[in-house]
Amino acid sequence: MLRTHKINELNESSVGKKVKLCGWVDTIREHGKIIFIDLRDRYGKLQVVVSSDSKDFEKAKKLTKESCISIEGEVRKRPKGTENTELPTGKIEVYISKIEVFNLCPPLPFDIHEKGVSEDVRLRYRFLDLRGERMQKNIIKRNEILNAVRNFFYKEGFIEIETPVLAKSTPEGARDYLVPSRNFPGKFYALPQSPQLFKQISQVAGFDRYIQIARCFRDEDLRADRQPEFTQVDVEMSFIEQDDIINIIEKMLKYVFKEVLNYDIKIPFKRLSYEEAMKKYKNDKPDLKTAEEKFAFCWVVDFPLFEYNEEEKKYNSVHHPFTMPNMEDFKKNKEKARSLAYDVVLNGVEIGGGSIRIHNSEIQQQIFDVLKISKKESQEKFGFLLEALKFGAPPHGGIALGLDRIAQLMLDEESIREVLAFPKNKEARDIMLDSPSDVSEKQLKEIHIQLNLPKKENFKTAKKKLKK
Ligand code: AMO
Repeated sequence: MLRTHKINELNESSVGKKVKLCGWVDTIREHGKIIFIDLRDRYGKLQVVVSSDSKDFEKAKKLTKESCISIEGEVRKRPKGTENTELPTGKIEVYISKIEVFNLCPPLPFDIHEKGVSEDVRLRYRFLDLRGERMQKNIIKRNEILNAVRNFFYKEGFIEIETPVLAKSTPEGARDYLVPSRNFPGKFYALPQSPQLFKQISQVAGFDRYIQIARCFRDEDLRADRQPEFTQVDVEMSFIEQDDIINIIEKMLKYVFKEVLNYDIKIPFKRLSYEEAMKKYKNDKPDLKTAEEKFAFCWVVDFPLFEYNEEEKKYNSVHHPFTMPNMEDFKKNKEKARSLAYDVVLNGVEIGGGSIRIHNSEIQQQIFDVLKISKKESQEKFGFLLEALKFGAPPHGGIALGLDRIAQLMLDEESIREVLAFPKNKEARDIMLDSPSDVSEKQLKEIHIQLNLPKKENFKTAKKKLKK
């Protein structure tokens, strides 16, 4: 047995026990004939003591911060006046009889408890950065959020369906990440911007309450609340109306905030029409936070169905082309119709968006006509969905919530990178992996790709242009 206890399992009632603990050297202080080590594991910190009469005293002298060790010894009460009231284990210490060193740590590139270390350094040494209190807490809390979300939906009778990552271009409006096919020269998979098409198909297939904690990929410019790959709580339901989706999401958020933060959210949330929000707040994600709480939720509903793109001289969908129009509006004036689309906003951040979907292929065709998507193009892109809709599709709708954004706001962090174990940096690079990176000629040949890169001296200009 490598360890008998986790650190938080020890307290005053453990005095006299012989224990074996594993962890990292958080701090080390040498006072002549005695060495004090704060030993840290995932569960806490504890002072352990080695005196010069121990056979492992010399070993202890060589220890460095963040070395990984195991110790054996006896739990003792700390002498009066030396207790540490800030530690739950501050009234006891372990008097060491034996030390085993798993790995000595070389000089650290930064102190894991220090604030203000540059993000690129933290990401380069993420394995160290994650050991710090802030990141340990965030990753553990994120896990609690995920568990609470799953529990809630499980209790409500939803089933989780995993959908492919090697998929096809979807219409969420960002640039796709493409994966070249080896077996089909010149053809590409696209990583899903969302599982939108699959979750609609799951409704045609009769799984009337779908949920997925889904990884999504979007090649867009990054901001504090955006990552190129992020996690959605993706939901779809059949035989429902907009209010059913809104109600279940409010209930879910209430449950998650209570479970994870022991915080009571008031539901129902305020609802604003898009028109009202724009008039009153000049913003479709108004920040309604006041001096009293912390978390101000609202729904923005009745989004316009289309927006005109001056550059392209055509209409685009505000949400996506499968969004159900407000049929009264649509009959009168298609281009100016409102839609059955809704966003949920927390403290001025869009944390989720969804809509009631079109389940009738004729209305779907009319939408494609306004969007000037030709029959050929719609068949190529979404033929399978259009076909499925004809085969007895039920009325359905759904929503997707940005899990990273919710975690960021719940944990009061400044960026979603702080609630992801291994995020990309602001330039979409994984600094620890050094990715994206070169691949071999052989690999390129296998996937029928020939590189046509700008000359090195033009590279900076090309990058700047791309950014623009
Ligand atoms: P939408 O595109 O609004 O809807 O995305 C849903 C939610 O996902 C989060 N989000 C992001 N989070 C981090 N980084 C990103 N790059 C990023 N992009 C989006 C946001 C957003 O509200 N298929 C539809 C949903 C549906 O209709 O059911 C969709 O993906 O919090």
